[in-house]
Amino acid sequence: MARITLRQLLDHAAEHGYGVPAFNINNMEQVLAIMAAAEECDAPVILQASRGARAYAGDVMLAKMVEAAEAMHPTIPICLHQDHGNDEATCFSAIQHGFTSVMMDGSLEADAKTPASYDYNESITRRVAEMAHKVGVSVEGELGVLGSLETGKGDKEDGHGAEGALSHDQLLTDPDQAVAFVRATKVDALAIAMGTSHGAYKFSRKPDGEILAMHVVKAIHERLPGIHLVMHGSSSVPESLQELFNRYGGEMPKTWGVPIEEIQAGIRHGVRKVNIDTDCRLAMAAQIRRIATEKRSEFDPRKFLQPSMDALKTLCRERYEQFGSAGHASKIKPLSLAEMAKRYRAGALDPRIEVSRAA
Ligand code: G3H
Ligand code: 13P
Ligand code: ZN
Repeated sequence: MARITLRQLLDHAAEHGYGVPAFNINNMEQVLAIMAAAEECDAPVILQASRGARAYAGDVMLAKMVEAAEAMHPTIPICLHQDHGNDEATCFSAIQHGFTSVMMDGSLEADAKTPASYDYNESITRRVAEMAHKVGVSVEGELGVLGSLETGKGDKEDGHGAEGALSHDQLLTDPDQAVAFVRATKVDALAIAMGTSHGAYKFSRKPDGEILAMHVVKAIHERLPGIHLVMHGSSSVPESLQELFNRYGGEMPKTWGVPIEEIQAGIRHGVRKVNIDTDCRLAMAAQIRRIATEKRSEFDPRKFLQPSMDALKTLCRERYEQFGSAGHASKIKPLSLAEMAKRYRAGALDPRIEVSRAA
């Protein structure tokens, strides 16, 4: 099936009240597992590549893997999305390689470390959206800085994210500013800061409203009911995976991720894209540790990677079902980029800013 844009997919998700997991990809095994799970339960797919993934696999390899996935799964619409684009060049080179959606993360400056000013964020995100929309490609922006409400710090665990201390004002997206930002930039989807962070160590206890600010999702959705919200740092870091990883020699101190029921509550309040990378890494790494421990003479990489793929497939299928995207793939007929561009030109895809009673 043809590639789908983020905008078309999330419009469908909003119309039918479901959320779409966005899984990070770096290699063939991840693509195969994510797609096999989608095929089993008829779920549309968002494959997203970070700058790190593009450097690791190379743009040509990533693009060809996604082409292969399309050929293998003709009934599954696939959105190929740039995760955390740091500047215009990253976003536009992704488009050159067939990405149908880009995230312009202007919450940080181009170094991906320094929290940016509102004006910088608005201006760079608006410029990227203007250009991307001309060729039908969707744009996700981010307002607020990802990081922990417990520690007041950004997420440096996987090598990117804000450096230094962050105030609550930076760590929580301001709903009024969100209205202004969407109006000015015309983004198709808005990532918000609400206490989630990348990596395994999100919370030191089961999160409550103090450290996982679901009220921010609700407040923004009340003001911007027509906007697709994005939750980053949304791995659940299941206890069972932590236990498996540690049983086979891993060293992961007890940690908590974002509970599935909180994500489901988010989906009821406008969250349409849910970013998941850590859970996928953990599912695969636990199996690699298991085989390395249980079969000490094994040296065929396939014997490590096949169980890893099986574990990832199980995880992805669970998320498709938990977020409600299962069963929707075959109902979607992807529109071409040319058709999307035409609709942007006509103003038909301008954000619906129906500022609600709460504003
Ligand atoms: O944005 C966070 C994702 O987990 C990607 O991580 O930059 O290590 O590929 P990465
Ligand atoms: P996790 O680290 O929680 O999986 O988040 C991934 C993410 O937000 C990618 O953009
Ligand atoms: Zn992210």
